[in-house]
Order: sequence, then C-alpha cells, then structure tokens
Amino acid sequence: MRQKSCNVNDKLKIGVLYGGRSGEHDVSLCSAASVISALNKSKYEITAIGIDRDGRWYVQDKPQIIPHKDFGRVLSLKKRGAWFVNHFEQGNQLRIFNNKKGGKALAVDIVFPVLHGTFCEDGTLQGLLELAMVPYVGADVAGSAVGMDKDIAKRLLTEAGIPVVPSVTINRQQWRDKKKDISKNIIDKLGLPLFVKPVCAGSSVGVKKIKEIKEFAKSVDFAFQYDTRAIIEKAVDCREIECAVLGNEAPAASVLGEIIPRHEFYSYDAKYLDPQGARAQIPAAIEDKLATRIRQTAVKGYLALCCSSMARVDFFLDKKTGKFYLNEINTLPGFTSISMYPKLWEATGLPYSKLLDKLIELACARHRQKMSIKTERI
Ligand SMILES: Nc1ncnc2c1ncn2[C@@H]1O[C@H](COP(=O)(O)OP(=O)(O)O)[C@@H](O)[C@H]1O
Ligand SMILES: [Mg+2]
Repeated sequence: MRQKSCNVNDKLKIGVLYGGRSGEHDVSLCSAASVISALNKSKYEITAIGIDRDGRWYVQDKPQIIPHKDFGRVLSLKKRGAWFVNHFEQGNQLRIFNNKKGGKALAVDIVFPVLHGTFCEDGTLQGLLELAMVPYVGADVAGSAVGMDKDIAKRLLTEAGIPVVPSVTINRQQWRDKKKDISKNIIDKLGLPLFVKPVCAGSSVGVKKIKEIKEFAKSVDFAFQYDTRAIIEKAVDCREIECAVLGNEAPAASVLGEIIPRHEFYSYDAKYLDPQGARAQIPAAIEDKLATRIRQTAVKGYLALCCSSMARVDFFLDKKTGKFYLNEINTLPGFTSISMYPKLWEATGLPYSKLLDKLIELACARHRQKMSIKTERI
C-alpha cells in the first residue's frame, strides 16, 4: 500500500468535492469557491471535482470563480466527460476514472468534501470514501449519519443528558393512516406554535412554522416532499447561538456566535436569498458562565453523536426562561469566508487558511488511526 498520503513533506493532492445531489447544491458551489481560493497552493495540489444534481462526478480542468445571482461568487461546474470512482483500486488514494475510451485515471491523496445535505453530509459519501481507504475531511460514517438525522440525534443527546426541544417524529405511512388523530394528538402534546421539518435535510429546506391547526396538514405534506420522516417540534421563542467544534477525540470549542434573523425564523430565504435576512454577532453577547456551559455542552454533544473533524453545533436559548437546548449538529457546515463556522474560528484565533490546514491534519490523523485497526483475527 502506498505510504505517501498524509506525509507532510509531500505536496498533498487534495480533491475538493463540491455541488452534490442535494437541496444545498448551490450553497456548496459558494463554499467551494472560498475553500479553493484559500487552500495553500505551496502545500497542496488541488483538483476540483464537481458533482451534478444527478450525482455524476466531473473533474474540472480549469475551475473558475463566477458570479451567481443568489450566492455572489461560486465555483463553476462544467459537465464535460463524466468520471466515476473506482473504490476497488484501493491504497490510500481515491482513484477516479474518465469513462471515455482510453480515458485517464486520476488519483487524490485526501478528499475535502465541501458539500452539504443528503448524499453528501449524511454518511453515504463517507462510506464510499471509507471503502476507497482515502482520508477525508468531516465526520465519518456514523457521525455524519446521526448528525444529519434530527430524530436519532435527539435520542442520543437525550441519553447524554443534553436538553433538546420536545418533539414527535412520524413516517409517511403513519401520517397517511391517521392524519386527523396525529394532528390532534401532537397539538395536544406540544401546543402551538410548532415547527414542522423533514428529519434529514438542511439549510431550512422543507421547514415551516405553524401557528394554527389548519396549517398543520399542509406543512407536514410539505416536509414529506424532502424526507420519508417528519419531525414536529414545539416552537421556542429563542435566540440562536452557534458554536464551532474542531478535533477528533479531544475536540475544542470556539467562542459563541449569535444569528439574529430578520425574518420570522432563520429560513432558507433569510439564510441565502435576502442579503439583509440575518445578522451574525460574534462573539455572542452572553454572560461568561452561561457561555462556558454552552461551549462544554457543544463538545459533549459532538462526542455523543460520534463526530470527528469538525461540526457546527447550534443551540436555541429560550428568551423567557434562559434555558438552552441543543438544536442540531452540522457536520459539513457552510464554508464561505463569511460563514459562521470559519468566522467563529477566526474570532477564536484560527484564521481561515490555517483552519483548512488543521482540517487536513485531522483527516490524516483519523485515517492513520483507522488504518492501524486490525482487520484480521491474528
Ligand atoms: N423548535 C424550534 N423553535 C424555534 N425555531 C425553530 C425551531 N426549529 C427550527 N427553528 C427555526 O428554523 C431554522 C431551521 O431549523 P433547523 O432545525 O436548524 O433545520 P436545518 O437543518 O434546516 O437548519 C432554525 O435555525 C430556527 O430559526
Ligand atoms: Mg439549522
């Protein structure tokens, strides 16, 4: 097996994966533009690999940063000559083949998935990279899968003694069979207003806030367009606090940031389409003792969900009671230069391009550890 990969004396070949078969495809193009610009070219040889909305991979000859109507600057994704991954050609490198006759093979030492959402951040891609035995940035299969699943994450967090907002999860069959009973029982249990969300999604795609019972069925049907399960949650009148966590087995927490949406909640429009949709306050104006408890809880939650590499841990801080809840963990958070995750590290003393170096180091460290695991009985 090749040993070059992860040797810091070599110029590492980094494969930046972006785009993806996900509702957050465009967000990823924007994150990728920032990552590609900031990766240290004297240390890394970079290959941009765009994944289109149908899941096809395209190695980019000359990726360009181009304007985009909603996202400002994004990385172009040209669909020329599809490539495919051959995970049987293992050996610490990911090998990608051009499927044209006589097409060439390409290999990368480390994969940096700058992707978000389904088939990107949910453990599926991570499984492919594990089979290829290539180091990669971001949580591994288990951490990605549970981080993406709002229902499983809540159960694990509850078991770890971390407060979460009361909720009920239903699948499509249960909904089809008993719409009326379900609506009534959930409203009796949780009250109004409520949030209805797909269990596995991101960027507020499929999320609705409902204030009246008559909006219930329409919102649940809407959430089911994005997943096979829906989670219905009590709405909390809250401040939204975020913490960036970085590391493998002994992770560190950044200072806290606050998102102040100017919309009814932090919707997709507020996040990406309305330039005035939300304001970020770093560090968040929170007294020290409470901030320390939230940061400690962020690390505890990160470990409870088997995360490694990085994650942004999001909290709701109840305006009335002062109680906080862990809302969700994002294992591949937005990564534009103005995104919360890199901004929080910058405010904690780790600038953007150093953060990318650290993520690559962590990917190598985790990979070395995984490669040392015995796969034979003797
Ligand atoms: N229970 C809740 N109480 C108050 N606001 C909520 C609640 N659930 C979601 N929201 C609002 O909706 C946004 C998106 O929900 P979230 O659970 O973070 O899903 P996503 O993974 O799509 O970001 C949150 O940032 C917040 O503004
Ligand atoms: Mg969120």
